[in-house]
Amino acid sequence: MPAHEAAGPTPAPHGAARTDAAFRAVYGAAPTGVWAAPGRVNLIGEHTDYNDGFVLPFALTDTTLAAAAPRTDGALRLHSGDVPGGVVEVPADALAPGRDLGWAAYPAGVVWAMRDAGLPVGGVDLHLDSTVPTGAGLSSSAALEVATALALDGLYGLGLDRRELARLAQRAENAFVGVPCGIMDQTAATSCTTGHALLLDTRDHTLRQVPFDLTGHGLRLLVIDTRVRHALADGAYAERRAGCERAARHLGVSALRDIAIGQLPGALADLAALPDVRPLVRHIVTENHRVQQVIARLDAGEPRAVGPLLTAGHASLRDDFAISCAELDLAVDTALAAGALGARMTGGGFGGSAVALVEDAAAQQVTDAVHTAFTAAGHAAPRVFTARPGPGAHRAA
Ligand code: GLA
Repeated sequence: MPAHEAAGPTPAPHGAARTDAAFRAVYGAAPTGVWAAPGRVNLIGEHTDYNDGFVLPFALTDTTLAAAAPRTDGALRLHSGDVPGGVVEVPADALAPGRDLGWAAYPAGVVWAMRDAGLPVGGVDLHLDSTVPTGAGLSSSAALEVATALALDGLYGLGLDRRELARLAQRAENAFVGVPCGIMDQTAATSCTTGHALLLDTRDHTLRQVPFDLTGHGLRLLVIDTRVRHALADGAYAERRAGCERAARHLGVSALRDIAIGQLPGALADLAALPDVRPLVRHIVTENHRVQQVIARLDAGEPRAVGPLLTAGHASLRDDFAISCAELDLAVDTALAAGALGARMTGGGFGGSAVALVEDAAAQQVTDAVHTAFTAAGHAAPRVFTARPGPGAHRAA
């Protein structure tokens, strides 16, 4: 099978039946159900989500599955099929932000966020399996959080809507895990739909499902996972966020979203005293504008015309936001040189994945060129696969 035809990053058997069976093996009883939440790829709109801006992600068909059953003794038992180390057990009423629970902090954080919001959530047995690669800029954390949140919603009959689920999952990550992420990834996991990209206005949380049928146009979006693993918690993400907030305060707006593209020169002039934040502002303002331009081109039935906007977005992230790295730049430059219509890094940055918009007929040559360039540069082999927009979180069994 050609590399770009691989169905997703992990070819291992995966599915609700397997996760159900794994739960039984770990806990010796049947789960109440199995819930699924996808990873995502962001087409465009990077680092705009904590600036009240626009994002345009779509769900991957790679998912995290959560098999779960309630417990009456208030204990939380967490097990992952992907991380060695056995069951992590902690009483739900002993959960507190900052506790070092490793991977288990994500599901535990969701329980904590729900209880902290006054929701009637008690103990739970949870087994998780995931095909979303971790640290690849494809939102494995949000998939984990949202699968857990949906499972708890089902087990405890909470009746939460998708927006509330996303907010609770984000709160788990912000306040319990300690990563100051925006709302994009959790919303993508809860609210994306098959065949669509999701336009999210992060200011008022309005959503629009944007038909995203590359296949019908003879196109595809390749994901190039550089295998450089990033850690958003390492401070650089928080620094960018703080810089954007400082700039907004200086400009007297509640968020950089309020600076329209035509106001950019004036805003940059007003920031003469804060030279370090000017490039951040330039990225956010132009990126919000690029999201609107991408939407216009998709609405006009011209997906090929999206390519240059992706490439311009990468230059902005590399030069102004300064969050790319050698491997991401190599992936983008090589894809473009091999015939991609556009390419950019995707996600938080400092590693992870790039995306490349390619003609079907060029997919193999782009894939081969990227592999060759990585080998020549002495980088680990990247993983290249075609991403097609899959469903948002749902009950799987
Ligand atoms: C990470 C965060 C998101 C978003 C992106 C960058 O994925 O979790 O909230 O800020 O980075 O667009």
